[in-house]
Amino acid sequence: MSITNYSVVSEFVFLGLSNSRPMQHFILSCSTISYISIVLGNLLVALTVTFDSHLHSPMYFLLANLSIMDLCFSTVTVPKMLSDLYSGKNTISFQGCVIQIFILHVLGASEMMLLIAMALDRYVAICKPLNYLNIMSPWMCIWLVFGAWVFGIIHSGFQLAFVAHLHFCGPNEIDSFYCDLPWFIKLACADTYKLEFIVTANSGIVSMGTFFLLNFSYMFILVTVWKHSSSALSKAFSTLSAHITVVVLFFGPCIVVYMWPCPTVPVDKFLAVLDFLITPLLNPAIYTLRNKDMKKAMRKLSSQFLSLRKI
Ligand SMILES: *[C@@H]1O[C@H](CO)[C@@H](O)[C@H](O)[C@H]1NC(C)=O
Repeated sequence: MSITNYSVVSEFVFLGLSNSRPMQHFILSCSTISYISIVLGNLLVALTVTFDSHLHSPMYFLLANLSIMDLCFSTVTVPKMLSDLYSGKNTISFQGCVIQIFILHVLGASEMMLLIAMALDRYVAICKPLNYLNIMSPWMCIWLVFGAWVFGIIHSGFQLAFVAHLHFCGPNEIDSFYCDLPWFIKLACADTYKLEFIVTANSGIVSMGTFFLLNFSYMFILVTVWKHSSSALSKAFSTLSAHITVVVLFFGPCIVVYMWPCPTVPVDKFLAVLDFLITPLLNPAIYTLRNKDMKKAMRKLSSQFLSLRKI
């Protein structure tokens, strides 16, 4: 029996979204535009909230944190994808792949917890308005944000602990443009059936659980509002519909990547594009452009910036 059971695969090859060169150029230009907008849009939200004291409230602090997370989430995969498309060199080192998986899961799980915190914030604001500032104190916000990150790190650490002992000796092609656990595990030289199940169940339970919890809490808020006065319902609905849209767009692709039952039809990698290039763009758009206070603050900030440049 050989004891040389260390991994011999030192890098992985991404098959990417398409292997036709014109299609790659098309994807490259769309993704570049989308990524630049994600960076600018999310930075704008974070800076506006930080620099405008009118926006120093729990809802906007959570929103600014969500923007930062979204920005990091795209940055873990998109720049690498763009450089691969540009250079045609589609490889990632073994360590790079593991680091990408780790950060991706930290950010994904933290973002889910942050969305729960945002739902909690809306619940308190709409259903317990008189106690809003008591319950959502600055300390509470810091704990929610801190808790989200801690949860993300623990979740991701668990996921990697399960796969840390795997060895890779055979094929090293990943049919996607980034590393994630379902594809990673399949390449290991071992019978990974049980492991696939554990990892899928872990991510599946976290994402499905959060998804149902969020939908349930938004329903609950709407029903509570509706019982009190049906005229307030339309206002609450317009606020919450933004939240619900983000939740559906964020979780849909995630759930498909982990739960997709037929591997022969690779829709999962195309849906993953939504999570990295569309949802992070929609967050600032949906939450911000429909919001009067936010628009006012941005106008003020931009006029301050312009007058600063004239000096
Ligand atoms: C994130 O949330 C914390 C806690 O409320 C807040 O202090 C911080 O300013 C937020 N981050 C940003 C970028 O607004």
